[in-house]
Parts: sequence; C-alpha cells; structure tokens
Amino acid sequence: MRIVGLRGVLCLAAAGLSMPAPAQSPPAQSPPVALPLATVQTEPLLVSADLRDGIDLSGDWHYSIDPYRSGIAGFHGEAPDRGQQRYLDIDVRQAMAADNRTLYEFDMAHSPVARLPGAWLAATPELRHYQGLVWYQRTFTAPADRKGRVFLRFGAANYATVVYLNGQPLGRHEGGFTPFAFEATRLLRDGENQITIGVDSAATPTTVPPPVTDWENYGGVTREIRLVQTPATYVDTAWVRLTRDGKLAVDAHLDGPAAANAPVRLTIADLKLDLAGKTDAAGNWRATMAAPRALVRWSPEQPKLYDVTLSSGEDRWRDRIGFRTVERRGADILLNGKPVFLRGISMHEEEIGANPARIITPANARALLGEIKEGLHGNYVRLSHYPHSEVMTRAADELGLLVWSEVPVYWMVAWGNTQTLATARNMLAENILRDRNRASIAIWSVANETPVSDARNAFLRQLIADVRALDDTRLVSAALLVERDRAAKVPTMAMADPLAADLDVLAINTYNGWYTGDRLADLPGSVWQIPDDKPLIFSEFGADAKAGFHSPEKMQKFSEEFQAEFYRKTLEMADRVPTLRGMSPWILKDFRSPRRQNPDFQIGWNRKGLISETGERKQAFAVLADYYARKAAVAGR
Ligand code: GCU
Repeated sequence: MRIVGLRGVLCLAAAGLSMPAPAQSPPAQSPPVALPLATVQTEPLLVSADLRDGIDLSGDWHYSIDPYRSGIAGFHGEAPDRGQQRYLDIDVRQAMAADNRTLYEFDMAHSPVARLPGAWLAATPELRHYQGLVWYQRTFTAPADRKGRVFLRFGAANYATVVYLNGQPLGRHEGGFTPFAFEATRLLRDGENQITIGVDSAATPTTVPPPVTDWENYGGVTREIRLVQTPATYVDTAWVRLTRDGKLAVDAHLDGPAAANAPVRLTIADLKLDLAGKTDAAGNWRATMAAPRALVRWSPEQPKLYDVTLSSGEDRWRDRIGFRTVERRGADILLNGKPVFLRGISMHEEEIGANPARIITPANARALLGEIKEGLHGNYVRLSHYPHSEVMTRAADELGLLVWSEVPVYWMVAWGNTQTLATARNMLAENILRDRNRASIAIWSVANETPVSDARNAFLRQLIADVRALDDTRLVSAALLVERDRAAKVPTMAMADPLAADLDVLAINTYNGWYTGDRLADLPGSVWQIPDDKPLIFSEFGADAKAGFHSPEKMQKFSEEFQAEFYRKTLEMADRVPTLRGMSPWILKDFRSPRRQNPDFQIGWNRKGLISETGERKQAFAVLADYYARKAAVAGR
C-alpha cells in the first residue's frame, strides 16, 4: 500500500491565485482522519529529484509586478483581460506594431531582469516590502534527446504559484517552503520554450503561516527551478531506512505505464546489498531485510552516508542515505539506542550577509551549520519555522547535525478553516515525503506557540496523526507555551497544554528575563511544573544584542553583556530541569523581521542572534559554546 500523504486527497487551491476558498465550516470534533493508504497521486513527488540529471533554469528572468492580480482576474472578478495575461506565448512588440487595435499592458520579454532563485526583495529596494503577485518569464531550449518524460521541478516558491509553459497552464501550488513539480512532457516543444511563473507572496488569515509572524516574508522563487527528465516509468517516491527493530526497510512507488508488477532492485554497493523485488498492481514495493552486519550507523560524531540506488527498467533513482534509529524511552531521547542531549540552536533560512535573499547554496548552508557544529560544539539544529531548503537538510546529513524540522503552523492560524487544515496537512506531507531519507531529521514539529483551544487541538491532532502515518521512525513535537503563576515569589511556570499528551517530545519557548520583568539573577531559581515522563527541549530562549553595543556596568538591554548574562543565568536554570534533553536557543544569526524597529538597535532586524547578520560573534556565543563543550565532554561525544 502506498502512503504518499495528502497530495492526492486534498484540493491544492493556491491562495489568492484561484477561486475563493470554499465556505468555512466549524472544525469537526471528530478524531483525526487516518491517512488514506492508497491515494491517487495528482502531482509527481519526484523525491530526491535534486539528485537527478536535469537542466538548471537558474539565472536571469524577466519580471513584472502585478499588485492587483490583473493577470489572474479582471476588475469585476471575471476572466483576466488578454492585455494583462503575462503568460501569453506572443511577441508583444511585433503584435502591436502589426495592428494598431492591439493593446498589451505588459511585455515580459522587455521587462526588467532579476536572478532566480532568490527572493525579489533583493532585486530592487522598492520590492523590499512588496507583498503580492510577481510574474517571471524566460525562454529555454528543450533538450534534443527527449525520450521519456519531462518535469518542471521547483525547490520552493513563496507563497502561492501558478506556472504556464508556452502559454498553457501547467499547474499551481500553495505553500512557500516545499518542493513541487508539474509534468511538461506534452507541452514541451522542440527548440525554444517559454516558461512563465506567477508567485503571490501575500499571506491571508487562512494561509499557513497567517500574515502576522516575526520574520521577513521573502516573496518569490527562493529555491532552484529545474527541468528534470525521467524514463516513461520512473521511481517517484522511495524511502529507505533502518527500522527501530534494526531491519532495513524500503517503500517505493513507480509512476508510469509500466509501474505495475515491475521488477525493482535496491543496491547499496558499500554494503554489498542487492535486493530484487517486484511492485504490486498499484506500482508499490515494500520490502524489509536484515540490516547488513557491516552497516555503520549515522550519528553526529560519525555521519556515515551510503549511496543507495533503486533501479527499475531504464530508471536509476539514487540518494545518499544515513541509517540510524531515533526513539523515546521514558524521558530520554535515544539515538541508535543510546541517550542523547541535543546541543543545538534555532535558525531561520537566511544566508549570512547584509542583504540576504534566502538563497541557500551548499556554501551558504555550510557557513551557517559550521558555526553550530564547529563553533558551538553543537550536534543539533532547529530549522525554524518552516521547511528549509533540501540543500540545508542534505548539509546537516553530511556535517552530522540532528534536525528539528517544522511547518509554519505559527501563532494565530485559522483553526476552524477546512482549507487551512488542508493546506497545513499538504505542507506537512510534502515536507516529510521530501525528507524522509534524511538521517539528520529526528523530530517533526507541527506547530509553534499556538494558543490552546478545542479547534486548535483538533487541528494539531490531525497533523500529529498524519506524521505518525507517514513516518514511524521519528519523534513528534511542537513548541508550546506555558502558564506563569503570577502569585509565586520565584518564576513559576506550568505546562497546561493538553497537546502535551499527544507529543513524544515536549518543547517550551521561554523568554523570562527578556520579555518579562524578571531579574536575570532570579532565573536559576525558576520552578518548572511539567510532565516528567517525557523528554523536554527548551526550543527557544534568547535576548537581543546589537553586535558592538556594550554596557558592562548598566547591563542595558540590547548590549552584548546583557545577552551574555541572560545566557549564563538561563543555562544555570536549564541545568536544574531534570527531564531536559536538549535546547535550541533563539537564535544563531540576527534575522530580518519588519516587526523589530528600534532605531538604535534593530531597524528591521531581530537581534537575538549569537552572531550578527554578517557573522560577527557576540559575547554570548562563547557562553553557549563553552556550555556545549562541557556537555559534549561529559557525554563523551
Ligand atoms: C517567539 C517566536 C519566534 C520569535 C521570537 C522572538 O518565541 O517563536 O519566531 O522570533 O519569539 O520574539 O524573537
């Protein structure tokens, strides 16, 4: 049976780029819906297609802003006027020169140019705060040797996307942080082809995330666009992993005319593993086998990856996969059967530099993760608050960092909206299906700081059920809020969130001493009333500091000294929490956030980074690095 997640089940209406969302009904109080095991795939998943041969369409693209979405609908909501349809396969100058009755109020081929991938805010200053629809267009030459099938694959585009090829609609997608692909075989023509993309960055109360967050909304095509070729029948999804009882397991799905009852073969040359099998009538193959004795398990200390190939007919699917187990035993998190303490930090998807555009190249990823691994002596990173680039999760595999991966179910989500739930479920499924082969990912998180209500609990329990159905090898968590006992003499917090019962790992964001009036000296004496039968992670704590601003005597907020002392006292507090099994302080690097506008210290940057936006380490960096070095020495790793 093929568990592919929700994409075949949930309508994928791109917000803002399609018909209005269906009428809203209150959330069903019914228990979570079990994932339909056999779903008809509406779009290809092309898992690990970033490793497939293809044509990279990065580079210069013409762009045209469309703030009133006139390329999507006319001003009475009717079909768009032809003179606004940026995706038409025409030569505008020629058409208007030939007939003076013709009018086009665009001309993509002669519009300004921006480099893709990369958020549009980096293209020109006037686009920094533009949230709306931008059209991109370029031409490319089709590969001459086209035998099988051709797909256009996007690493991600934020937030809702429509794609046209040679003037014809190819597909649409909602969600700013996960890959999507559309088959182009039929529409591709010999020689020159024209691709047009409409990306709408606008968040609405029913999108995921909603409009109010605490990070820059990098609109546009933020990850690579590639033309990927496959044989007529190819491996669309494959998941190869070590099960908790120590077996190697493979789930694969072929797509194409010869997918049913097809011979398949799994090979891992370094392990001398060569397993043959056959797909079922639906093109699925599941097999388990004893793990080869020679298998070296992946860990942060020894991030061993194996070249894995899955062959069927002419197709050779491949990935680089580490094999390890992650589980919970009481209040312990076990990696390969041994308790582990997660020495981490949180991170947004934003490269180091004064004007980031959310361009994560392998070098940018290594520059960031190297600060955690080598700089902080870390073994863990929280990739917040949305699925990061596959470049980042592959770098975590290679460098040896465990990962918390999350979807942007953040703050005030429209819990009662059925389309919002469908969007969140689809985004979660796309994230898990993309990254199930990443050894580094240990935890899937379904939410961040969401206020408790019946509707929110039902919504999140559905997401938790989806994770469990899609991946029984990892842990589930969510960053929760706690309740403060205002009458207590010392900082006293209690976890009253009913969702705690549904999670494997409890996670708390705490900002006592920054957003509260607590004196830093009182932090170590804090009292935490939390369930003691599960591991706890402090998924966030932090304080702002402007690099280079010093206040050693007054310890003024935003000074490096205050931030360093905040870390010392919070770490002292952390050491007194008996079930604490990890932490991901907020945050590795200063990051862009329009909500942070103190003119002396912020001006659009959240300054809780341990390094500045240009990579300058602040005093608190050494405080955490020393703490982790001592923890690593005690743990012997
Ligand atoms: C919150 C939130 C973060 C935010 C941080 C802050 O906990 O999860 O997204 O940036 O606090 O206030 O800096």
